[in-house]
Amino acid sequence: MTKTRILTVCLGNICRSPLAKGILDSLVDPEEVVVDSAGTGDYHIGDPPDERSVEVAKKNGLDITDQRGRQFKTDDFVRYDFILAMDNYNYEDIVSLASNEQDKDKVKLILNYAIPGENLDVPDPYFGGTSGFDDVYAMLTKACRNFVDKELKNG
Ligand code: 4NP
Repeated sequence: MTKTRILTVCLGNICRSPLAKGILDSLVDPEEVVVDSAGTGDYHIGDPPDERSVEVAKKNGLDITDQRGRQFKTDDFVRYDFILAMDNYNYEDIVSLASNEQDKDKVKLILNYAIPGENLDVPDPYFGGTSGFDDVYAMLTKACRNFVDKELKNG
């Protein structure tokens, strides 16, 4: 069976998208689904996730320490079925690299799975405090659960 491939994308690939990958990994069967994460920026290539993301993940029973930052590349349109953008900037940056409608259709704003049709951003917690990371974790958990129910279980 061909695995479904999901890529979570934020700006730095150290705060939001590693958390989204960790949450999705905890919800899917690795025999059926592959999850990776990337950043639209090149600031943190090769870096581990931000320690505040590592901490909030750990508090919720997830280990994301093995992830390393990498930059989104156009080849990801070929390799992934779903590309989940954390905010509208990420969404526009990714879509601007799409070469056809099929690629563009793969890109989804992740919070539309939690609050449909609102096009809301997962706020970037990088410059904020720890509470920002708890909020981000809660919204990503809801969005990822709904994503799995909608796109992976009913299809
Ligand atoms: P992320 O947060 O996009 O959720 O990983 C950021 C992390 C680092 C930077 C920006 C956003 N930065 O500019 O270094």
